Amino acid sequence: MKKEILQILRQDSERISGEYLSSILGISRVSVWKHIKSLIARGYDVETTSKGYRLLASPDTPFAWEFPDRYEKIHYLETVDSTMDIARNLARKGCPHLTVVVASTQRKGRGRLNRAWYSDKGGLYFTIVLQLSMPPQYMGRVNFYTAAILAQTLREEYGADAKVKWPNDILIDGKKLCGMLSEMEVEGEMVTFLNIGIGINVNNDPTRQKPNGVSLQQCSDRKVLKKELLAIFLDRFEEKFDLAMAGTAIDLWKKYNSTLGRYIRIVTHNDTLEGYAEDVDTNGALLLKQDGGKINKVIYGDCFH
Ligand code: BTN
Repeated sequence: MKKEILQILRQDSERISGEYLSSILGISRVSVWKHIKSLIARGYDVETTSKGYRLLASPDTPFAWEFPDRYEKIHYLETVDSTMDIARNLARKGCPHLTVVVASTQRKGRGRLNRAWYSDKGGLYFTIVLQLSMPPQYMGRVNFYTAAILAQTLREEYGADAKVKWPNDILIDGKKLCGMLSEMEVEGEMVTFLNIGIGINVNNDPTRQKPNGVSLQQCSDRKVLKKELLAIFLDRFEEKFDLAMAGTAIDLWKKYNSTLGRYIRIVTHNDTLEGYAEDVDTNGALLLKQDGGKINKVIYGDCFH
């Protein structure tokens, strides 16, 4: 009902009477008032007078009703340990493809290679559930597709000079704006679901924990609406999703990457490799040309430019 009430209030900058809302929505005026009160409690600025209601301002909170076309698939929670945990439970229960779990803060946000992901207020933290049936080796393509679409969104919609560092960090001027973490479950030979968790520094200040981090606000000197960024990204992500498992996902990634063609260092749990980043293969493994010409295929690790 909040979705419908907001839609009506947003269509008109004039006051809308409780009577009109009640007749058009088929609920009592008391019920309309209860919903309005609950919107106000959630940060909406609704002017209420004897003549009716007027929406003055909305909070930048990704409530499900802020995504009318995805209402059923968005799960917003104010604080969670990690959106990955909630998404995994939903995926196991068979939630729809492209279900999204989004939180304002995380108590135990997780990063790649068992690191913590600090999730202060102001950042955008979400996990997308992909109900896919595919061989596990294709997972790299989907991750590359995701990073490429996000970089493209940030460049085309926000004018940010976003580039992807192998495998899927997004950097601006060499500083980390966004990280991604994937988790999948496999049955037999096939992936049953792949969850992609994305943390974007939007209006938070990541430099307190990570000196080499940066936020969109810090790059552009203005606040960016998180709910709008999420909506635009999800639309773009879904629109071209057919590319995600095709080889073209890798071509898209190459277009926005800043790793290939550089001399780089890769650190894994038990090894450090240095070499020239020659290319990536069709599933996203990095082809590192070492001194002497030997090509090393790297499938995971931290990449330093
Ligand atoms: C990294 O660069 O190390 C990956 C960071 C991934 C962070 C996101 S925030 C949303 C989702 N929930 C988590 O706990 N982690 C991912």
